[in-house]
Order: sequence, then C-alpha cells, then structure tokens
Amino acid sequence: MKVLQKKGARVEVWRDLAELSGRAAELFTSTAYDSIAAEGVFNVALSGGSTPKALYTRLASEGESESTAWLRTNVFWSDERCVPPTDEQSNYRMAKEALLDHVPVPPQQVHRMRGEDDPNIAAQAYAATLAQHLAERDYRFGLILLGMGDDGHTASLFPHSPALDETEKLVVAPFVNKLRVSRLTLTLPLINRASNIIFLVSGATKADTLQLILEGDADGRALPASLVQPTNGKLIWLVDEAAFAKIV
Ligand code: 6PG
Repeated sequence: MKVLQKKGARVEVWRDLAELSGRAAELFTSTAYDSIAAEGVFNVALSGGSTPKALYTRLASEGESESTAWLRTNVFWSDERCVPPTDEQSNYRMAKEALLDHVPVPPQQVHRMRGEDDPNIAAQAYAATLAQHLAERDYRFGLILLGMGDDGHTASLFPHSPALDETEKLVVAPFVNKLRVSRLTLTLPLINRASNIIFLVSGATKADTLQLILEGDADGRALPASLVQPTNGKLIWLVDEAAFAKIV
C-alpha cells in the first residue's frame, strides 16, 4: 500500500478493490467506535453505486456484524436514485441486501431517501430527517462515504449542475441532464461539514479524472468531486492501483 498527500488529503493506494474494501471496513469500524465513544452515536451516510458493495459485504461478515456499535448507528445515504426502494437501481436496496439485512441496526435508525416520492418533496422530507438527527451536532456526520464517477461527479452532484451552487439547503433534487432523470443528493455545504469523508475509487475508467482532481487545477464545476473539502474534518481517498495509474 502507498500513502501520499495530495492537496491536503490523505491518499491510500491499494492493490485492488478487495484490498481497498478491507481498509475501508477497518476505517469505517474505527470511525464508528470513535464517534460512539465521543458522542454516543455514529451518524454515517452511505454511498451508492457499485464500488462500496464489497465494503458493505465485508462489514456484514461475521466479525463486524456482531458489533454492538450497530445499535448506536444511524444510517443515512449521500444520494439516491428517484426509484422505489425495491428497484434494482436503488442505493438503499443495494445497501440493504449487502449490509443492513445482516447487521443489527434498529430499523428506526435506517433513514432512506424516499426515491419513490416526488423528488422535491422527498428532498424536503429528508432535510427534515437530517435536522432531527444532526441539528444538535451542528449537522456534522461522523462519516460520509462517497464514490466518484468517471465524469467527476460525486453523490448526485454532477458536472455544471445548479446543485453545486446550493449554499443553504441540506438536500436537493437536481435533474441530471446526462441521465435524463432526477436524483436526490446531499449538498456540498452539508457534505463538507462532516468529521470524516472517505472516497472509494476503483478501476482504470476513473484514472484520468482522479489525476485531474488530485494533481490538476480542477475546475470544480466540471469535476464536482474536487469540491469535497471538509471545512473541519478528515478527507481520505481510498483508491486502487488501476485508478491511480495516471498519477506520478
Ligand atoms: C450513485 C452514487 C454515485 C457513485 C458514482 C460511482 O448513486 O451512483 O452515489 O455518486 O458513487 O457514480 O459509481 P461506481 O461506484 O458504480 O463507479
């Protein structure tokens, strides 16, 4: 494993997705314990997409799944597709099948974004849920997991989206022109308040974009993942060798 600093962020380069996921599970677990020790609760926002599935499966394995920390964990999402929770596109469904069905998080502590509802109504409702759980903690998540698309999007903050200009709201429902669909997403002001943010980036298709973000003078609006810069938290990029290949 190689460790370096890029633009003030720790970058860990792991051989492949399996190794990266093992490290992510280790960091997830240690962050949970630290958060529970300090605040009595662990508020975590899960990422969608395919990369984190291996992490979720690791966390669901025997060792971690018995941890009592799950009883003190509130599970949220960084974004969601505007589909029902049973849809194969649903980020909630993926996390439920890979993780939540295998660990003892009390159901009332699992807070999914309601992708089946009108997007703007769902965004307002989720903001209210976040306020209920985070307001007293200054809206600081203990941990936010994020992925990165090969176009530089993160969560559902896509290049040149008006959502990138949001400075007040916690959750928005942008129409994503590229996909011709609406999405639900946490906003940058909320993401950047987190105590810990971990990016999980795997695969050769991400290499050009990762190089631009970690080494170039990325135009934030063109590469939204570069706008994730926690104001008073730790940012770690967990990447595999294939994604890191274009960085010297
Ligand atoms: C989503 C995600 C999105 C994802 C990236 C990377 O809902 O799709 O939140 O931001 O993290 O698109 O996706 P992969 O992990 O599938 O490459």
